[in-house]
Amino acid sequence: MANLSLLVAVLALSLSSVALAADNSALQDFCVADPKGQVLVNGLACKDPKLVEANDFFFSGLHTAGNTTNPNGSKVTPVFATQLPGLNTLGISMARIDYAPWGINPPHMHPRATEILTVLDGALEVGFVTSNPENRHFRVVLQKGDAFVFPIGLVHYQRNVGYGNAVAIAALSSQNPGLITVANAVFGATPDIDSDVLVKAFHLDKAIVNYLQSNKF
Ligand SMILES: *[C@@H]1O[C@H](CO)[C@@H](O)[C@H](O)[C@H]1NC(C)=O
Ligand SMILES: *[C@@H]1O[C@H](CO)[C@@H](O)[C@H](O)[C@H]1NC(C)=O
Repeated sequence: MANLSLLVAVLALSLSSVALAADNSALQDFCVADPKGQVLVNGLACKDPKLVEANDFFFSGLHTAGNTTNPNGSKVTPVFATQLPGLNTLGISMARIDYAPWGINPPHMHPRATEILTVLDGALEVGFVTSNPENRHFRVVLQKGDAFVFPIGLVHYQRNVGYGNAVAIAALSSQNPGLITVANAVFGATPDIDSDVLVKAFHLDKAIVNYLQSNKF
């Protein structure tokens, strides 16, 4: 009998870990991040609820276009728990993304969030690559008012394919989605990944690998 209940408990645990793929459910109304918190927890420590103010749930700045004068030709303005302390433990965040003509948001992934993106202005080519079926590439062109979802953990990108600037708003299913940009992670790691690993992995000449590694992103 004890063994049976143990089995049931283990099963329930393993099922719940599948269901809890995103941020955990909150145990209180809010846990506004305390920027001076000394305790290291999964997330940020809570500010005393009696000291919480309306401003802790407020962010201003998404009306301002990001500066896209950079090699990507794009700029992400994040609204994560760091920028909006009230988001702490709530499992959601957002960002504004600006794109110059032909600007890109390079291939990257969010280890902790699914992302839904809507175009406010311009036209964007968007895509992601799956793990199963292996390396299947899904791609569409979005116009103003269209939305597209990038499933959690998958490599995805955007490119402005219109003639003017493009603007999008992304919503993400984590207060802190995390960002791994493929090129930076592989060729810009510190200390370097041994170039021989990258020569074999990418079928590239060693000189090209060395060049990419020296050109820190
Ligand atoms: C945008 O960024 C570029 C490159 O860093 C800089 O030269 C330029 O002054 C910035 N423009 C504005 C309006 O801040
Ligand atoms: C280009 O975008 C990536 C991903 O957002 C970022 O890591 C990198 O710093 C950007 N490069 C420039 C020059 O802005």
